[in-house]
Amino acid sequence: MGKALDGVRILDFTHVQSGPTCTQLLAWFGADVIKVERAGAGDITREQLRDVPGADSLYFTMLNHNKRSVTIDTKNPEGKLVLEALIQKCDVLVENFAPGALDRMGFTWERIQELNPRMIVASVKGFGPGPYEDCKVYENVAQCVGGAASTTGFDDGPPVVTGAQIGDSGTGLHLALGIVTALYQRTMTGRGQKVLAAMQDGVLNLCRVKLRDQQRLERTGVMKEYPQYPNGTFGEAVPRAGNASGGGQPGWILKCKGWEHDPNAYIYFITQAPVWVKICNVIGREEWATHPDYATPDARLPRLKEIFAEVERWTMTKTKFEAMEVLNEHDIPCGPILSMKEIAEDESLRKTGTVVEVDHPVRGKYLTVGNPIKLSDSPTDVKRSPLLGEHTDEVMAELGYSREQIDALRTAGAI
Ligand code: COA
Repeated sequence: MGKALDGVRILDFTHVQSGPTCTQLLAWFGADVIKVERAGAGDITREQLRDVPGADSLYFTMLNHNKRSVTIDTKNPEGKLVLEALIQKCDVLVENFAPGALDRMGFTWERIQELNPRMIVASVKGFGPGPYEDCKVYENVAQCVGGAASTTGFDDGPPVVTGAQIGDSGTGLHLALGIVTALYQRTMTGRGQKVLAAMQDGVLNLCRVKLRDQQRLERTGVMKEYPQYPNGTFGEAVPRAGNASGGGQPGWILKCKGWEHDPNAYIYFITQAPVWVKICNVIGREEWATHPDYATPDARLPRLKEIFAEVERWTMTKTKFEAMEVLNEHDIPCGPILSMKEIAEDESLRKTGTVVEVDHPVRGKYLTVGNPIKLSDSPTDVKRSPLLGEHTDEVMAELGYSREQIDALRTAGAI
């Protein structure tokens, strides 16, 4: 069976996390992703957070599956010629250098268009055009400037960044969508175009509900599903909401049996309105189903703390999995707080290919997150990440270079 992006060639000039996430997805959908790295060094993450001496780090291997690696010094005049040949052969150039780096290398949008008018040039940058467009940006900076940090954490504590890499991997996802959309448009126009995903914009897109809340706050001065209601105070900006649900169905994280020694013995519990009567029955507060102080969502809003405390008295009698089983029997939405250990050992995630074991010639077996997007006609086979320059000769030969030419370029330090 073919793959969705069979025949699409990606010139992958990405490094660290945001860009590599994007090109890894495209590779999983079947694109031929040729990762360009500097000889002797490569993507800086190859050696960051190393856990096996001499082996590519998990940071690198988990972001660069199914790609080919070629080494080119793109500041060397002969190396530039090799890159030009690749630009002429590929459909998409993806990069996440610091602003201006590609131009400084001599590969401006205009130059790339001269070489290949069908080329799509896709970039991750920290910020879009504006006062900060020249700034370098990493994950947590993006979370801070995109509105995530100011709205994450508890009211009485400082802003908090999340473990989910919404700035890097989130922006990589946005960029991948931009690329396939530009490829689709190219089938009609025959032309390439620039695709930009700014990390600030990507994070803000994922924090859309908080911009919603900012406007609600300005209109009404209060948000009744936030823990600040009814006894706390609201300021001018959306406050940190602790574990309150971002939607219209109030929720909170509650202790389960064993919470005293297990930091993850908790469950997320949602008081979804349609199952309120069932909730009352499960926790043994049947009278709340009809009591005017509890029977309707509006009546419950000022009493959420008391309600969650009562539900917690029940969840503390069960493990998080026992609680989930009972609650699901009654269609009550909830979710156990799963540790990474539990996720790594989860058999159902292995079966679907969301958690995959991969073998690597230097580091041996390791776990990775497979393709979270499943296409029925384009299944993903996760293949190990390439060693540095593993495919240089192969790709050079495909570009028409002879053995002698390849050796000469290597001696000259161009590849
Ligand atoms: N051959 C020769 N030179 C190469 C090369 C190659 N194959 N690959 C990269 N380089 C050069 C670049 O041209 C650049 O040179 P210059 O500074 O002289 O122009 C240099 O390597 C460093 O690139 P840069 O992107 O500036 O790396 P950095 O380590 O200084 O910064 C980031 C890293 C992530 C902060 C920066 O790339 C950035 O802000 N990227 C955009 C936002 C982003 O993606 N951030 C998230 C990362 S997960």
